[in-house]
Amino acid sequence: MKLKRRDFINTAALTGAGLMMAPGFTFAKRRADSRLRLGFIGVGLRGTWHLKNSLKRDDVDVVAICDTNSERLEICRKHIADAGHKKAQEFGDNDYDYRNLLELSKVDAVIISTPWLWHTPMTVDAMKAGKYAGVEVSAATSLAECWDLVNTHEETGTHMMILENVNYRRDVMAVLNMVRQNVFGEMIHYRCGYQHDLRHVKFNNGEQPYGGGIEFGEKAASEAQWRTLHSLKRNADLYPTHGVGPIATYADINRGNRFMSLTSHASKSRGLHDYLVREGGTDHPNAKLKWKLGDVVTTTIDTANGETIIVSHDTNLPRPYSLGFRVQGTRGLWEVDGNRIYIEGQSEPHKWDEADEWLKKYDHPLWKKFGDDAEGAGHGGMDFFVLNAFVESAKRNIAPPLDAYDAAAWSAITPLSEVSIANNGEVQDFPDFTRARWIKRQPYNWIKDTW
Ligand SMILES: NC(=O)c1ccc[n+]([C@@H]2O[C@H](COP(=O)([O-])OP(=O)(O)OC[C@H]3O[C@@H](n4cnc5c(N)ncnc54)[C@H](O)[C@@H]3O)[C@@H](O)[C@H]2O)c1
Repeated sequence: MKLKRRDFINTAALTGAGLMMAPGFTFAKRRADSRLRLGFIGVGLRGTWHLKNSLKRDDVDVVAICDTNSERLEICRKHIADAGHKKAQEFGDNDYDYRNLLELSKVDAVIISTPWLWHTPMTVDAMKAGKYAGVEVSAATSLAECWDLVNTHEETGTHMMILENVNYRRDVMAVLNMVRQNVFGEMIHYRCGYQHDLRHVKFNNGEQPYGGGIEFGEKAASEAQWRTLHSLKRNADLYPTHGVGPIATYADINRGNRFMSLTSHASKSRGLHDYLVREGGTDHPNAKLKWKLGDVVTTTIDTANGETIIVSHDTNLPRPYSLGFRVQGTRGLWEVDGNRIYIEGQSEPHKWDEADEWLKKYDHPLWKKFGDDAEGAGHGGMDFFVLNAFVESAKRNIAPPLDAYDAAAWSAITPLSEVSIANNGEVQDFPDFTRARWIKRQPYNWIKDTW
């Protein structure tokens, strides 16, 4: 669906909001076979992956890159040259130089892969500048930011996509196919989470992105420069979308269903302190810090259609990676841990099947078609598909599969869980970011082999 320009929006309102540029409304429909001229804001580890994957496509021109770290620009300049592409215009003189990139008429769309606190301001500015915006996860850090994304999208008519790659994981998409074909019956309950030992990401030696030391902030490199501070200052599910994104799609959130409320509880916080003491000794200044983030944060969400979703956030303790998916209906369930499926009437009674056969049988048409292209794209191939969905939607200037309402509803889990935890698990209502349109909005057509 293409949004119509709202009459009440005028230039004054938009420039008054901080951007001294004429709002470019993205109404001219581009042809599907046209090329997309892409700008990149933030080309750290993640942005560089997106850039490299874009360079492999024959329908994308990388025309501008922006990063405040000149070393990152240099790395990307080399990738662009190695791929035989024309030099991109470069920005990054200061934190707001990205706004100069957004003024370029040669940029159709931008991919934003900066630290979390920049996501919403940059996405809002991009939409105001008429640039189709893709933003990394999570998209927002407060309820006010969630509303900013929705309001700006509606006011400008410009689209944004939350670049949640896990929605495109092969098993996740096969299970989506099974959900759509009613293999699990009527859906009842879901579990998911971000269960990833990030201690070596939260601390490093300033020279490498992972481990080798226990510094964070200015003395550290990559994510430890900015991500770790959130663990010091906030007790919340800080990173909900890798788990909740796929579940929201299964449950048609914002499209016939919605998140209604949540309650959240946090365990005590020991993991980071324990790690710091063991790695750096009790005298290291970081061993004296009090970390706010509970080691295991557990959130339970109610949906309008009566499903429950348990979401875990577990990033401070030693553990192998798992997003902990469980997808359960009246006829059976999938559990990612243990790689197992049980379908009543088809599985041996009370015995699990290995998931592999089922996942192969219901392999998603996108993976069947593009599985080979996806190889090497990062994160087991799913990065290819999330970029593909973004580029194909942006080329046509149509609504993306994962839109501003999704970005808002999923990201809202962070601030809502924070308030719930601070109030002994008090129930928090989700704002209805669709303003009741979830009742009539149709589910996105996921089961196709295009994007
Ligand atoms: N979807 C995934 O699987 C996945 C994986 C990793 C990271 N991420 C997300 O991607 C984002 C970036 O993570 P990362 O690992 O690349 O972090 P990073 O620290 O390596 O990169 C962030 C980059 O942003 C730049 N930057 C900061 N402020 C800027 C500004 N004002 N203007 C321009 N550039 C600025 C930094 O210099 C840095 O190069 C985060 O939101 C993270 O959560 C997603």
